[in-house]
Amino acid sequence: MKGVILAGGLGTRMSPLTKITNKHLLPVYDKPMIYYPLQSLVEAGITDILIVTGGPHAGDFLRLLGNGSEFGLKHLNYTYQEGEGGIAAALRLAEYFCGGEPVCVFLGDNIIEGSIKDAVQEYKRQKRGAKILLKEVPDPERFGVAEIVKGKVKRILEKPKRPHSNYAVIGIYFYDCRVFEIIKTLKPSGRGELEITDVNNRYLELGELSYSILKGWWTDAGTFDSLRRATNLVAEKNLGK
Ligand code: G1P
Repeated sequence: MKGVILAGGLGTRMSPLTKITNKHLLPVYDKPMIYYPLQSLVEAGITDILIVTGGPHAGDFLRLLGNGSEFGLKHLNYTYQEGEGGIAAALRLAEYFCGGEPVCVFLGDNIIEGSIKDAVQEYKRQKRGAKILLKEVPDPERFGVAEIVKGKVKRILEKPKRPHSNYAVIGIYFYDCRVFEIIKTLKPSGRGELEITDVNNRYLELGELSYSILKGWWTDAGTFDSLRRATNLVAEKNLGK
């Protein structure tokens, strides 16, 4: 299984912090943000990893991560996204890298307390289709939200004003290689982006979307408040609180 970390965008929500660096290089407690998704993938045994980045500070990823030796890797792959266009548009750049293999996609601003090892094993057993991970949150309107009826995902709505559940779709996704064909059929959403939620809903229509509830805490770190939260959670974890 391949791993893809999406770390592009201009991070405008976090200006002026992102005027002179990429959002995913900002500190979360004692490490740059991108370290956490990278560690999570490697810990789950996924070592063939592509980082998709973009913007004016893309070169800093190479300076920071090099060939990934600090993470026990022999090699790291990078690609550059021209402009923006949403998560699914960034993922499209990984098609050549995946070469027909399944892929675990990790948003570069998502941080988890535990491990995705179990999810990786479950997805391998599933063999085809897609898998998403859910987590109950107090503020689901900030995320993709899964409506669950009788233990099954009924639909996923992107940042609904009135969420039907508290289950956020977290930024860690498993796809088979058909994901790239699905992305090609997407139309930009109201915010002008190719939405990953549309990809997941397509797999749902095909009857090939599974889900698990993630154990341990999860947070994004893409706003000032969530960055502070991420920093506190990581600090508490490191200090064994
Ligand atoms: C993105 C996805 C959303 C998901 C979230 C997880 O949101 O669109 O469905 O719940 O990542 O972090 P965005 O980063 O665009 O706010």
